[in-house]
Amino acid sequence: MQLTNRINRIQISPTAAVINAAEQLKAKGVDIADFGPGEPDFPTPDHIKKAAIKAIEENRSKYTPTGGIMPLREAIVAWHKRELGSDYTAKECVVNVGGKHAIFNTVSVLIQHGDEVILPAPYWVSFPDIIKYAGGTPVIVQTRAENGFGAKAADIEKVITPKTKMVIINSPCNPTGGVVTPEEYERILALCRKHNIWLMDDECYSHFVYEPHKPFSIASARDSKGNVIVIGSVSKTFAMTGWRIGYTLAPEPLIQAIIKVQSQSTSNPTSIAQYAALEAMRGTMETVPVMLAEYAARRKRIVEGLRAIPGVTCEWPGGAFYAFPNVSAHLGEGKDAIAKNCTDLAKLLLEQAHVALVPGAAFGAPGFLRLSYATSLERIEEGLRRLRKTFTRAEAAS
Ligand SMILES: Cc1ncc(COP(=O)(O)O)c(C=O)c1O
Repeated sequence: MQLTNRINRIQISPTAAVINAAEQLKAKGVDIADFGPGEPDFPTPDHIKKAAIKAIEENRSKYTPTGGIMPLREAIVAWHKRELGSDYTAKECVVNVGGKHAIFNTVSVLIQHGDEVILPAPYWVSFPDIIKYAGGTPVIVQTRAENGFGAKAADIEKVITPKTKMVIINSPCNPTGGVVTPEEYERILALCRKHNIWLMDDECYSHFVYEPHKPFSIASARDSKGNVIVIGSVSKTFAMTGWRIGYTLAPEPLIQAIIKVQSQSTSNPTSIAQYAALEAMRGTMETVPVMLAEYAARRKRIVEGLRAIPGVTCEWPGGAFYAFPNVSAHLGEGKDAIAKNCTDLAKLLLEQAHVALVPGAAFGAPGFLRLSYATSLERIEEGLRRLRKTFTRAEAAS
């Protein structure tokens, strides 16, 4: 079949591929310790569910304005101001079908052939493909485990060229949990202003940060508006992944361009989900610290458990809900090797140990694995037991 060059430039999301493979085994009755999915295991809070039910009962089931209902756009900018210190108007906000859609639309209206986009690695799997789909070239900058995987302005500066159009920062980061400090963010913003580059700030995990970090948005910095594009989502903060509501905050002409794309593609995000998101933005936030406390306990257990496996190192993630251990001592041809590379290792762990996780290669980080700890402590214990068994059997055999 003759498909377009555009579609041939990208691949199906590797995280989706892992989830599908695990689901197939589960369907056969196999008990999988599942560290695959990047989504909260908590239900959507009751008050949000009730708002959606009310919206259905009130027949809020018609088309809405393409960019989202005005009360939601107003509530998002008010929430962002209150929680993260920005100062946007509703006209500088558009509601999208999830954070991924927000990124896709923003990149599609700003990036074209010949443009370069700077992307710190390890990166979330969708960024490079969204850039390539638009015709742009991802320019990868490595972050380092010893710095907690935080992106550094000095590294970004080295790869800026006249073709650079955008820098993407995702803090806390999926897959590493790396957090960019406010001071470093300011340096990155200063660079972007100096070179007239967009700074796309993916804040989807903003409220899941561990001490000493605090939720932060670079949109709170003075005079940031001209360069900053905020990407946000209710998916993680409010355990609403399936509702598909995200948003973009940016200068009004950019918001208008995104509304134009939406008007010819998705039209409005689901009306009912918008009313649910409206309640998320206006209602109580008391479920957020409860989830965070649970993630903190899981983080402690999983990081300590991974570190206790011989040959495995693991940084403390500053935020999000992923552990990102380095397993390179067990890869290759050496005496402790159990697989050639991390992709083969992930396959082996799924098929033999029945542990689902994502190989680091999918995130531009061969030698690592990503484990989502958005799962119960009990399942974390079970998964660690299986991992330890697989890794130490290799040691015993050598
Ligand atoms: C870094 C990052 N950005 C954006 C998203 C998009 O989330 P959603 O489209 O559900 O809002 C995700 C989801 O996993 C993510 O990890």
